[in-house]
Amino acid sequence: MTTKTVAELLAQNVTTQDVTVKGWVRTFRANRFIALNDGSTINNIQCVVDFENFDEALLKRVTTGAAIHVTGELVESQGKGQSFEIVVKTLEILGDSDSESYPIQPKKHSFEFLRENAHLRTRTNTFSAIMRLRSSLSFAVHKYFNENGFYNMHTPIITGSDAEGAGEMFRVSTLDQKKPPLTEDGNIDHTKNFFGKDTNLTVSGQLEAETYAMSLGKVYTFGPTFRAENSNTSRHLSEFWMIEPEVAFMDLAGNMDLAEDFMKSVLSYILDNNQDDLEFLEKRLLDDEKTKPQLERSELSLIEKIKFVVDNNFKRVSYTEAIDILRNCKPNKKKKFKYIINEWGADLQSEHERFLVEKHFKCPVILFDYPANIKAFYMRLNEPDNEGRETVRAMDVLFPGIGEMAGGSQREERLDVLKEKMKALDISEEELWWYLDLRKYGSAVHSGFGLGFERLVMFVTGMGNIRDVIPYPRTPQNAEF
Ligand code: 4AD
Ligand code: MG
Repeated sequence: MTTKTVAELLAQNVTTQDVTVKGWVRTFRANRFIALNDGSTINNIQCVVDFENFDEALLKRVTTGAAIHVTGELVESQGKGQSFEIVVKTLEILGDSDSESYPIQPKKHSFEFLRENAHLRTRTNTFSAIMRLRSSLSFAVHKYFNENGFYNMHTPIITGSDAEGAGEMFRVSTLDQKKPPLTEDGNIDHTKNFFGKDTNLTVSGQLEAETYAMSLGKVYTFGPTFRAENSNTSRHLSEFWMIEPEVAFMDLAGNMDLAEDFMKSVLSYILDNNQDDLEFLEKRLLDDEKTKPQLERSELSLIEKIKFVVDNNFKRVSYTEAIDILRNCKPNKKKKFKYIINEWGADLQSEHERFLVEKHFKCPVILFDYPANIKAFYMRLNEPDNEGRETVRAMDVLFPGIGEMAGGSQREERLDVLKEKMKALDISEEELWWYLDLRKYGSAVHSGFGLGFERLVMFVTGMGNIRDVIPYPRTPQNAEF
């Protein structure tokens, strides 16, 4: 008799003489009904014990959170709420759980409380559903790229270049913190450091991915990235996972096509394969919505929102068009925005992005061709427009409820233009000699983007705080677990 998961037992859908299952007790009702969950599915299996056949002392140990091993017969259930249940023949306690102190009680807990108990929060329906969806999404990401001829590349986590410009970095050092070796002019002597130079945790794998795109053609990275920015928002983590495809001979239009196709594909994978978890989270959100005033309620349910993205084209809008819309929109004229948009060149804040996506277009939007001076050095410079303004071939993919889901660009492939840009921004050529080499030997048009994996998980699960879609969030002042 092999142990089956609850998911397997419920899926087999036929009465079976002898089954065995292991899991954690969710509830034990009327000294008779154990709701057992093993994490394999959102659904519990009901285990029915005839208390006359069991020692009272043993049944007392069937407490919420206890790990148990049950054998018995899988039969059609007479009760409501499940089609099959186990009539228990043997019951073994694998691990007791003190129900008085066990943090995960069978009641509603706040997300703040569960964050403090992140080591146990996946014992709840909500967090087990989120983490199964996260796992499934991760698989869908690799599946998409694998089926579309991309090679997976593991870019380094410790990096010697800090020129990406994506954000503040975390230093990696083995020097004595109290008495670091100093150079003659009093600076820290990094030649004595572990790598013989100053190193940091990476903010992005892009620059390294570009080198592989320019040899393997189509590559992607999917790994952890780190940002030491002090931004305590519901959409920022200090450690997050980024998906970065990079493709040779592809221009910005191709990059937009890739981003849209990729996102639709992984979302439809989830619709096809994770229905139980989606339905559970959808119901949770609907219950949540009922407590809100009518006007603030969302028009679409969770699954409808995902379907909407899969079935509709993303709207492609240039930065210049977006500025025109924003300049003339009501919240701008009535000074409802915190940052009023007066002129071309302004950096867009999330309030502007959300207006465009949620109020104006009401669908995902890809903004492209941003002003050169608000974007990174490596983005492909356009010809100046008819008013002489300089833009780069950048794109940001904006999602309802999320804001920026992905950002990318066509890369500057012309050596002289790139060098000039680096000089203007005081970026050292010596440090990025290998990046410049790509422009010396067989340079070509190439493009890519980076998508924040947790933001995708937020969209799919409908969770409002990014700390609830990663197992152990790292944020300013917080690295517990
Ligand atoms: O826009 P970003 O900074 O772009 C880059 O790093 C490029 N090198 C990507 C590329 O072209 N290969 O980051 C990309 C995405 C953002 O759109 C956002 O979804 C996510 O990463 N992101 C974060 N997610 C969580 N916490 C943070 N602090 C994030 N910063 C960016
Ligand atoms: Mg960005």
